[in-house]
Amino acid sequence: MAENLAVSISTKKEERYQTLLPQIESLVTGESDLVANLSNIAAALKQTFNFFWVGFYLVKENELVLGPFQGPIACTRIGLGKGVCGVSWKERRTILVPNVDEFPGHIACSSDSKSEIVLPAFKNDEVILVLDVDSDQLNDFDETDAHYLGQLMKVIEKIA
Ligand code: SME
Repeated sequence: MAENLAVSISTKKEERYQTLLPQIESLVTGESDLVANLSNIAAALKQTFNFFWVGFYLVKENELVLGPFQGPIACTRIGLGKGVCGVSWKERRTILVPNVDEFPGHIACSSDSKSEIVLPAFKNDEVILVLDVDSDQLNDFDETDAHYLGQLMKVIEKIA
């Protein structure tokens, strides 16, 4: 396993993702424990982008339960269809929220969170977890984040 993460100094997020993703693949290769891998992935995303909050909610007994994350303390359980995470789970799709105040039912774990993106990962055609990334700036995520974080979810699906 790599001991240090090489973080691209580029201001272009495409380049940061392109530097990060292969490192994540090698970081998780050879480790079979999902929580250990998700913990390092959350840390690598935080190190690279300094996201306000980045982490995982895992589907457990028909609820989303807080998993490995970096950032302020967060809500521990989210129901199907509740909040952005619960809608991503229910509708099985990536959700980009430019302004959380305009998303009906948004769950404000922190009042500092202003925009977010949530992506689901699948196993045997079921959602097994979601990745949630929050920003304290409005409109901070776009199709580039959806694209590269989508690639990350494919890596996670391989190791889950
Ligand atoms: N905002 C999320 C809840 C999780 S926290 O932001 C970490 C939601 O509406 O699902």
